[in-house]
Amino acid sequence: MGDAAEDRAKAEELPEGDVIRILLEQHAQVRDLFAEIQQASADGRKEPFDRLRALLAVHETGEELVLRPKAEGSAWKDVATERNQEESEANEVLKHLEELDTATDAFLSALKEFERSVDEHAEAEESEEFPRVLKALDEDERRKLGARLQAVEKMAPTHPHPTAAGSTTAQALTGPFAAMMDKVRDALAS
Ligand SMILES: [Fe+2]
Ligand SMILES: [Fe+2]
Repeated sequence: MGDAAEDRAKAEELPEGDVIRILLEQHAQVRDLFAEIQQASADGRKEPFDRLRALLAVHETGEELVLRPKAEGSAWKDVATERNQEESEANEVLKHLEELDTATDAFLSALKEFERSVDEHAEAEESEEFPRVLKALDEDERRKLGARLQAVEKMAPTHPHPTAAGSTTAQALTGPFAAMMDKVRDALAS
């Protein structure tokens, strides 16, 4: 199992706004949210699970639409294709998971399984893909991609109690996961 503190330490080695820094910070947030859901009471799982779904919609769609198209024609292409494949499989598992009642044991065991596959996927990105991105794209380009990601990141309610000022953006991602992904896709296309 990867470690949130390790992800944050790696992120801090990169310049602010760098696409890989942002993605590593999101990996840390994803890991924290999995822990938060499992530590919550049965009735308290839904709220952090909603935040996890919103963050994953932003994160995986961002990797797919902002980062991976840049792999075309490079040594990073095969690795990128494998990661895209894992993401579409994870999306299917998540669609199943969100049909379960979050207060049940069935949800908790399906969540643990999902966590394992998300963790493996994130580890593969960190060890095989991100190092290739750092070689293939210069700092300026990585900052440009990071800016696109940050624009949609605001849609994800990553804090439990958004302030009044933040509440409208925090409301942007609600509903089923598939619908959240559509909203992120639209935001990235505009
Ligand atoms: Fe991913
Ligand atoms: Fe990722």
